[in-house]
Amino acid sequence: MRIAYLHLVALLLLWPGFAWAGLPENPQGTGEHAKHWQPDPMHEYWDPETYHRPENQVEGVFTGEECLECHTAMTPGIVKDWKASRHASTPKPVLCPACHGEDHQKLVFPTPQTCGVCHPQRVAQMEEEKKYGFPSHALAMERAVDSKHFADKPKAELVSCLQCHSVATKCDSCHTRHRFDPAEARRPEACLTCHSGPPHPDDNAYFSSAHGEKYKKEGTLWDWGKPLAKGNYPIPTCAYCHMKDGNHQVADKAVWKFGIREINPNTAENEIKRKRWHGVCADCHPPEMASLFFQELDTERQLAWKKLYDIERLLKNLRSDGLLVPSARERPLYPMDWLARLFPRERIGFYEGQASAFYNVSAIERDYFEMWYFDNLGAYKGMAHGAKNMSQHFHERLDADAHAIAATVERLRKAGKMDGKTEIIPLWMEGEYTRFNRDHN
Ligand code: HEC
Ligand code: HEC
Ligand code: HEC
Ligand code: HEC
Ligand code: HEC
Ligand code: HEC
Ligand code: HEC
Ligand code: HEC
Repeated sequence: MRIAYLHLVALLLLWPGFAWAGLPENPQGTGEHAKHWQPDPMHEYWDPETYHRPENQVEGVFTGEECLECHTAMTPGIVKDWKASRHASTPKPVLCPACHGEDHQKLVFPTPQTCGVCHPQRVAQMEEEKKYGFPSHALAMERAVDSKHFADKPKAELVSCLQCHSVATKCDSCHTRHRFDPAEARRPEACLTCHSGPPHPDDNAYFSSAHGEKYKKEGTLWDWGKPLAKGNYPIPTCAYCHMKDGNHQVADKAVWKFGIREINPNTAENEIKRKRWHGVCADCHPPEMASLFFQELDTERQLAWKKLYDIERLLKNLRSDGLLVPSARERPLYPMDWLARLFPRERIGFYEGQASAFYNVSAIERDYFEMWYFDNLGAYKGMAHGAKNMSQHFHERLDADAHAIAATVERLRKAGKMDGKTEIIPLWMEGEYTRFNRDHN
């Protein structure tokens, strides 16, 4: 008892020193864990307001015509795209200095606010997402840098985070610079640079739906110059459904959101959101069709959560019995997770800590992570997009996961009885790669 008490006092005294001394001093990071990570040079592109520092050779203050003249030789591709854009052909052309400034030693990369000088409505729509909370485009950057696994993961795995999450800090995510052609942004490909891969398999979901199948067959023949409004397209694309009538806000309809939380779809707020969804489908389908569709989605979600909670209970019992090996006490800690220094605890499932599930876990915890994160997300995204085969496939995976985890639980219990706890090896504990990354994050 006394030893445990002293241990606590020592930890209280030690942890701040340990936390600050063990990691490089870095005044430049942003967000809650700013001290624990260092921006890469490329971050000046992803978050230009914070990181862009013009280090240019060319000196002088230039007019738009002068910029064009020199850059026609310097960067012909940029000038060609700009010339083909609406910005070049409006009665009062939007020249290079409108977005970059005129002093070549003080050039800026445009932020949404720069575009907002002339497109205030579009920027205001995106800003409005904030009132719906996460996930959203407007909050994407802070969401990424504030998540613990962003500061904690090996550096090599973090370079891409901010590229995708830069959807919040600049406007050329769906629009390509310097063409800025809405016809590009309307197509699903504009979203897929970011909305793809196992945590968000929106590409697979859409392309294996009836809508996506038709897009694959005929999409290249359609006139993408038309706005995304009723009557202009035979089937919807990502933006048609999520940015109805060009509304630059993707968060006002999401009920199940990212798919990793259990949600009550029947709250007053969610019913308003559902009405908005019905409004989208009504452009092409009778109302009963949308009602049935969303009923099926909610049923699928309930089923998935039942499967997940059943397994979560098994794991929590294992934890109570001290059979998760190695225990949280025996693992390297997340540097910024100071509470865990005092009260180390294995965290199971989304509600106890998403970040703590990526690494530093025993094999069975990682198996459950694969289940509630990747396989569950696939099941949700398939169903939400009318790709029933895909959803079915991931439900089969959920069943297989459940089966395998239950078998491992049995094995651990048997081993526990014989005190043979060391059977399971942690996935990410020590090693050169880990140590290097911990020192260089
Ligand atoms: C005399 C030629 C010349 C003129 C005039 C000129 N540029 Fe540049 N620009 C360059 C060169 C060369 C670079 C490469 C960076 C460097 O060494 O300065 C560059 C780089 C840039 C960059 C990239 C900056 C970065 O930080 O990565 C932007 C943006 C840019 N120019 C915009 C403009 C704008 C806007 C104007 C007019 C106000 C302009 N340029 C006028 C030659 C020119
Ligand atoms: C409507 C706004 C807008 C206008 C007008 C504009 N740019 Fe840009 N430019 C951008 C954006 C957005 C970026 C990307 C910055 C980032 O990634 O953060 C960019 C990037 C650049 C870069 C860096 C490109 C790279 O890939 O490294 C150069 C150089 C540049 N612009 C030159 C020009 C020149 C020259 C003109 C005039 C012909 C011009 N820009 C007009 C918005 C604009
Ligand atoms: C100085 C004012 C100004 C700035 C700054 C500006 N734009 Fe524009 N933009 C315009 C004008 C004017 C048009 C033409 C509008 C029209 O004809 O309806 C336009 C048109 C567009 C279009 C539609 C093009 C088309 O082919 O229909 C897009 C997309 C666009 N801007 C995006 C942006 C983005 C993104 C930024 C910031 C990186 C930006 N604009 C900055 C003035 C500006
Ligand atoms: C540059 C990357 C990028 C592009 C391009 C992009 N997104 Fe996103 N999107 C994100 C990120 C990152 C998030 C999650 C942000 C967070 O962490 O909260 C997100 C979230 C969303 C959400 C979830 C909103 C919610 O409330 O649940 C929807 C819907 C969405 N995007 C639709 C689209 C559509 C439609 C397109 C194409 C027209 C698109 N996105 C293009 C990066 C992108
Ligand atoms: C390929 C693009 C891409 C990369 C790379 C990426 N993300 Fe995301 N991220 C997204 C998209 C898209 C979503 C939204 C998923 C959805 O709503 O379905 C998202 C969602 C999230 C969320 C959950 C948002 C919420 O509110 O639930 C967090 C946290 C997050 N990302 C952090 C990160 C971190 C940290 C990294 C780097 C390790 C990273 N992301 C790398 C595109 C990306
Ligand atoms: C998630 C993808 C996405 C992002 C991010 C995005 N746009 Fe768009 N944008 C679109 C789509 C899709 C259209 C075409 C809408 C339609 O057909 O009705 C469009 C059209 C436009 C237009 C032309 C339509 C009009 O007259 O308003 C402007 C201007 C524009 N966007 C500005 C912006 C600005 C400014 C930003 C940054 C705040 C931005 N966009 C960010 C997808 C996006
Ligand atoms: C037919 C309309 C439709 C199309 C087309 C569509 N989605 Fe969705 N999407 C939905 C619905 C419905 C949901 C479930 C929303 C909910 O739970 O309330 C959803 C969910 C999402 C989510 C999770 C966050 C949220 O809003 O719930 C993301 C991210 C997303 N879609 C991105 C995309 C991308 C990227 C594409 C194109 C590849 C796309 N969607 C195509 C209707 C559509
Ligand atoms: C722009 C028109 C349009 C919109 C908007 C639209 N759909 Fe569709 N949808 C179609 C067309 C056309 C088909 C048939 C595609 C085919 O068979 O090739 C279809 C097929 C479907 C199917 C498959 C039906 C079957 O018999 O296999 C489902 C499910 C579906 N849509 C759901 C939705 C939902 C839910 C929404 C709203 C979130 C929606 N759709 C919005 C045009 C649309």
